[in-house]
Amino acid sequence: MCGICFVVNFTASPCILQENVCKKLRNRGPNCSKNITITISDPVYSCLFSGHVLHMRGSLTPQPLLDADGNIFLWNGEVFGGLTVGTKENDTEIILQQLSLCKCNSDILSVLSQVKGPWAIIYYQKAEHCIWFGRDFFGRRSLLWSCDSEQSSFMLSSVSICLPNPESVHWQEVPAVGVYRLDLKSSSQDGNWKLELYPWAHPDAEPPNDFTWEGLPSSISLMINNSRLFITSLIPLMNMSITTPNLELNLSSQNSSCDLKEFLKSAEKREMVGSFIGVLSEAVRRRVQCLPLQDTAAQDTNNKAAHVAILFSGGIDSMILAVLADHHIPADRPVDLLNVAFKLQELKMNQVSRKKGHNQKKDCTNADAPSDQQKSNCFDVPDRITGRAGLQELKNLSPARKWNFVEINVTQEELKEMREKRISHLVHPLDTVLDDSIGCAVWFAARGVGIISEEAGQRQHTSTAKVVLTGIGADEQLAGYSRHRIRFKSSGLEGLVKELAMELGRISSRNLGRDDRVIGDHGKEARFPYLDEDVVSFLNSLPIWEKANLFLPRGVGEKLLLRLAAMELGLGASALLPKRAMQFGSRIAKLENTHEKASDKCKRLVTS
Ligand SMILES: *[C@@H]1O[C@H](CO)[C@@H](O)[C@H](O)[C@H]1NC(C)=O
Ligand SMILES: *[C@@H]1O[C@H](CO)[C@@H](O)[C@H](O)[C@H]1NC(C)=O
Ligand SMILES: *[C@@H]1O[C@H](CO)[C@@H](O)[C@H](O)[C@H]1NC(C)=O
Ligand SMILES: *[C@@H]1O[C@H](CO)[C@@H](O)[C@H](O)[C@H]1NC(C)=O
Ligand SMILES: *[C@@H]1O[C@H](CO)[C@@H](O)[C@H](O)[C@H]1NC(C)=O
Ligand SMILES: *[C@@H]1O[C@H](CO)[C@@H](O)[C@H](O)[C@H]1NC(C)=O
Ligand SMILES: *[C@@H]1O[C@H](CO)[C@@H](O)[C@H](O)[C@H]1NC(C)=O
Ligand SMILES: *[C@@H]1O[C@H](CO)[C@@H](O)[C@H](O)[C@H]1NC(C)=O
Repeated sequence: MCGICFVVNFTASPCILQENVCKKLRNRGPNCSKNITITISDPVYSCLFSGHVLHMRGSLTPQPLLDADGNIFLWNGEVFGGLTVGTKENDTEIILQQLSLCKCNSDILSVLSQVKGPWAIIYYQKAEHCIWFGRDFFGRRSLLWSCDSEQSSFMLSSVSICLPNPESVHWQEVPAVGVYRLDLKSSSQDGNWKLELYPWAHPDAEPPNDFTWEGLPSSISLMINNSRLFITSLIPLMNMSITTPNLELNLSSQNSSCDLKEFLKSAEKREMVGSFIGVLSEAVRRRVQCLPLQDTAAQDTNNKAAHVAILFSGGIDSMILAVLADHHIPADRPVDLLNVAFKLQELKMNQVSRKKGHNQKKDCTNADAPSDQQKSNCFDVPDRITGRAGLQELKNLSPARKWNFVEINVTQEELKEMREKRISHLVHPLDTVLDDSIGCAVWFAARGVGIISEEAGQRQHTSTAKVVLTGIGADEQLAGYSRHRIRFKSSGLEGLVKELAMELGRISSRNLGRDDRVIGDHGKEARFPYLDEDVVSFLNSLPIWEKANLFLPRGVGEKLLLRLAAMELGLGASALLPKRAMQFGSRIAKLENTHEKASDKCKRLVTS
């Protein structure tokens, strides 16, 4: 993970990078910061490249990287496949070497299209006087753009700050729809910015030719190159087939307490579930191995710290990641399971218990001053409870592993303080109530400061794992959300499969940029195994009814394939939990105004 930033001025004046943006970039890349500035007199422009590196594996490679021809490269990504990176080599260097050899635009696109893994890049091609930039096919790394009101400068950055002043620079996410090329020469000479987009496109599909977005002044026209050059996506298109075989329909009409084991009696089904486990396991392996500290493991044999943490609700998505991580992480290395809970106010707690008709003596509803025991129960939110149950399952399955179940309790005061100081800037430019809830929950979870309860009592724990696995992408691909059921009821399989294709297409702008900024702020790297290229390719090739069967009841039919995988991996109860969205599971949504809609603009995110 790195923080990368680029500024160009089309005047002779030097480029300015606001100090507070620079600070945010350093949070993402604490191990090494470097700037390169260049000033060109014909055509007139000056640039600032700023790179902030988080050291993940191999030897530390400072950025920006400069090659012998004066090309400059900023890379915020990980090569997990596609290009060969030897154990002694560094991916940043390998990609720059490849880019340096490119003779024309299509060469550049072909280098980038080969990479498997998340990335955002900025690349200055000196001889051409141009800047290339963009994000990977899913948009797993953040990149924002903005330009000043006089249109004399243009900026790109992994992260920004949000200012209430409407005059101030206005940042937007760079849409992850392709790779862009800004021609500095013509932009400088005639003031008409020449920005070209080379869209991501599948070889078998009509390349897209119509994009709309905000963020750039309307006077900057963005062109899609008329040579119809595009960047090839290796991900197959989603299987839109909706002709279910009878067998499936019959299964659906059966008993509602239907037994997942019944499905696994079919050899074909087992084979498919086995293939799915295979690709997902490989995706997890690539994301948990080859971490820097493994080389120096000898140094901390007594008090080993986890290298990998998982955002852990105890739900099926995170349980499967934990089981697969367990298969690939050395047996004597702990794994941190990060579980976040927001404190229920006593008044609200009261309402919740009453609503549910609870009448427990041990909750926070006592009129008298609550004891410590009762206070702590205010954090017993749904995700905490399923988290503990999930922990027990993991312990049964892999008793020798040290599982650090980190209980992260967040009070309303701390939430308010951190939102204002840090989180609102990271969530920006996204701005809804949902972005606020999830952004805050993920930020506190990824920070990893909490307590671990052991037989000997409770102890403070701060997770130092640099890799944070998240389960994002499972619900979008396997129809895990309740909205999928609604869509299925209203428009059948056809509607459902269209909904899934649409959601996968917009996952960068809905989730990934935000989550990358929020997790990266701790000097940690978010990794998304469910969005591995091979996993998505596998799932895209399957017809919808193999992934989910919404004729079956809640807790069974959604993410059916994942539930079957969980059974095969030896999981029990967690395989049958219905989806609970993080904002409800952690109860952060309950802290706030309950009359808000998730899609409303969030007033709390506006900084003063
Ligand atoms: C990178 O920076 C982090 C945070 O400052 C520090 O904990 C870590 O040891 C550094 N890693 C290396 C390899 O210098
Ligand atoms: C890079 O430039 C920014 C903005 O001018 C400055 O704040 C920062 O200190 C510089 N960093 C280094 C390592 O020189
Ligand atoms: C390359 O170097 C950067 C910066 O030191 C580091 O973050 C990255 O993990 C390295 N990659 C490989 C494959 O060694
Ligand atoms: C489109 O791309 C081709 C190939 O790289 C290039 O030769 C051509 O000049 C570009 N067209 C425009 C209008 O920029
Ligand atoms: C499906 O069920 C119907 C009756 O409910 C039965 O006639 C048919 O043979 C079944 N099909 C399969 C493939 O089991
Ligand atoms: C339906 O469920 C009930 C209770 O769970 C069970 O006893 C019965 O055998 C099931 N019927 C079928 C056809 O599976
Ligand atoms: C956090 O909440 C849990 C209940 O889920 C409780 O057991 C624990 O004591 C709390 N820890 C702190 C430090 O408040
Ligand atoms: C879609 O799934 C169906 C049923 O398994 C299969 O026959 C077909 O080949 C698949 N299509 C694609 C494009 O993968």
